[in-house]
Amino acid sequence: MTSPAQIVILGASGDLTLKKLMPALVGAARAGKRAFSVVGVSRSELDDDAFRARVADALDDDARAAFGDLAPRVHYQPADVSDEASLRALSERLDELAGGEEVGRLFYLALKPELFAPAVSALSDVGLLPRGCGREGAFRRLVIEKPFGSDLASARRLNAELHALLDEDQIFRIDHYLGKETVQNLLGFRFHNAIFEPLWSRHHVELVQITVAEDIAVEKGRAAFYDGTGAVRDVVQNHMLQVLALVAMEPPVSLAPEAIRDQKVQVLRALRAPDREDILRHSVRGQYTAGEVGGREARAYLDEEGVPEGSTTETYAAVRASIDTWRWSGVPFLLRHGKRLRKKYTEVQVQFRTPPLQLFNRPEGMDDAEFSRRLRDGSLCQIRPNVLTLSIQPREAISLSFGVKRPGAAMVMSPARLDFDYRDAFDAKSAPAYERLILDALAGDATLFLRADEIEASWAFADALLDGWAAADAPLAPYPAGSDGPDAADALFEGCEGGWSRG
Ligand code: BG6
Repeated sequence: MTSPAQIVILGASGDLTLKKLMPALVGAARAGKRAFSVVGVSRSELDDDAFRARVADALDDDARAAFGDLAPRVHYQPADVSDEASLRALSERLDELAGGEEVGRLFYLALKPELFAPAVSALSDVGLLPRGCGREGAFRRLVIEKPFGSDLASARRLNAELHALLDEDQIFRIDHYLGKETVQNLLGFRFHNAIFEPLWSRHHVELVQITVAEDIAVEKGRAAFYDGTGAVRDVVQNHMLQVLALVAMEPPVSLAPEAIRDQKVQVLRALRAPDREDILRHSVRGQYTAGEVGGREARAYLDEEGVPEGSTTETYAAVRASIDTWRWSGVPFLLRHGKRLRKKYTEVQVQFRTPPLQLFNRPEGMDDAEFSRRLRDGSLCQIRPNVLTLSIQPREAISLSFGVKRPGAAMVMSPARLDFDYRDAFDAKSAPAYERLILDALAGDATLFLRADEIEASWAFADALLDGWAAADAPLAPYPAGSDGPDAADALFEGCEGGWSRG
């Protein structure tokens, strides 16, 4: 065990800290892999006990029962990043809590995005976050939340501001999707199992579809932020493109963080939004109207509390993207994300090409000529492509569909599938994403965090899509809450077999 590190959370009275970070830290303490203490920081005038009480209140019963062990190591210090004296007091308190020992410090920015750069510069000014201490021992690292910028230009600016003060290996840009077990398994599945890799290219894959569907509405208190953000910036640019990068990247030479991130950035750089000519055919922006979700009435986006009247922000986006690499040239990557859809699920489907000739499933009594004619004109098409489904959440599973001969005299093939489910195979429940990521940041392992160039490449794609929509004056397709999104998205399959997965 290395000496206990301090996790300093700026923005400690906010929702992210109370709902996500503290439960994750209770879990991490329980896992016992690494000793740490926590110092909550915000402008509210609280003391240690009052902060502990707030944390305990926000935990679920199970976490509250486990909080007793960590609680004595949870502290609070009021400070404001625009008040140097308060940061100096924080610095003294951290030293005092460390009891004269040289300890590592992880500064977690759970702040509003506009405060990211000022906070880093203020911490650096008072000597709390000096450059060049990314490695072990008395490290000084920064964890920075999303949204990391709101477009390519602002992300570049923020990267430049961070790099002016810190080394890249001190900066841990978080995307909680990378902390999900099944997202990490994308790497394991692809590069541990030799049977799929030879098929994983334009030669055998017809299309790849990625869905991040949510049934929830815009959460309470978040409407103002969401309305200025929209589905592309909120989820597509980050979570979805991270999943895409892991599905489409070239094999890394090792599992070293830079080896993996080098390959991810290559594929993100090769990712293309539809051209101006195709943008209206190959993408859909939508917004939910009133409907029903899970048997309950659901109001329209425009009627959600805090959404400005007449807002045209998209709560749904579907896009047919392409990847200009030798491996993927010509293979559509169909991406779809929306709020207030029928159900919550995140899933990747890799659809393989169909055999060149249909030999099976000829209706009884049909002669050769009629069979060929009916296959050619599409009125008889019983070939189903093999589809590999990687279910990320809430189901954590992998399945492969294929055809089997139906018992009997005729050569009739029926659909079948092979299924693997994490729940059946392993007893242990996956650790929550934040727990894994915070432990990795403490250990200095940046594999599951985003590098500056990765974030910028992802923004370049999001900007191209959003600019394309603006230039084409793309219409907003309404979809009822509780549906699968606008019907217009079906057209993205143009020229391909199949349709959107239903989770
Ligand atoms: C967040 C978005 O980053 O991810 C939210 O801001 C979204 O709008 C959430 O609901 C989805 O995360 P998960 O883990 O529930 O799929």
